[in-house]
Amino acid sequence: MTELGDVVRGRRSTRMFLRDKAVPRELLDEAVSLAMRAPSNSNIQPWRIFITSGPRRDRLVEALLEEASVELPVTTGLPEAFLPLRRDLGALVYGSMGIRRHDAEARRMAQLRNWEFFRAPVGAVVCMHRDLGPVDSLGVGMFLQTLVLALTERGLGTCVQVSIAAYPETLREQLDIPDELTVLCGLAIGYPDPTFPGNYLAVPRNPVENNVVFLDS
Ligand SMILES: Cc1cc2nc3c(=O)[nH]c(=O)nc-3n(C[C@H](O)[C@H](O)[C@H](O)COP(=O)(O)O)c2cc1C
Repeated sequence: MTELGDVVRGRRSTRMFLRDKAVPRELLDEAVSLAMRAPSNSNIQPWRIFITSGPRRDRLVEALLEEASVELPVTTGLPEAFLPLRRDLGALVYGSMGIRRHDAEARRMAQLRNWEFFRAPVGAVVCMHRDLGPVDSLGVGMFLQTLVLALTERGLGTCVQVSIAAYPETLREQLDIPDELTVLCGLAIGYPDPTFPGNYLAVPRNPVENNVVFLDS
């Protein structure tokens, strides 16, 4: 059995997949079954996920790229305190692709790959009932992290993608997502392209004391 610590440390966001290496359905089924064990408030299991591959995934990607090619969505604002971390991440990700800070066109092309699930053969859209609130989105997050770790354990790469949620109407139309669900994010699933340097980034984390407070006296 794999050690949990190894899986947690081994997971990283994959931003280029092997387009033609199919993901066995059995692995998806196993990972989804494990993720269903995630805890949730009152056990309401608020996650709803639409997992697409094959021609349906291709039609979705075509529609998303058509929209994003016209104009990229505006990036969600962040409070000032968090901006340096976003900048550092951008420098790391784009730097690994050899893209300079002011090369707007190269950045745009790289960003566009979000809407083709970074070429992953499987794309998922994560949703929650529109009348549920922040506490229940924690439940969805617990499901999603369990799913991602279970996929990692099976040798698959993943990338959680808020960018996918920028076009909810297209997602609804292409994947028959009912109106009562809010789209939260996407998830790209597939085998990482071993030749892509951006798949090997060790994105740093804060020192523990920045985020965690122990109080014992
Ligand atoms: C809710 C959420 C949304 C994210 N959205 C995107 C996204 O739209 N595009 C992207 O390239 N990465 C996205 N990421 C990946 C983060 O950038 C990544 O998890 C973070 O930089 C840490 O890197 P690591 O996953 O490699 O450890 C998202 C991650 C989460 C949890």
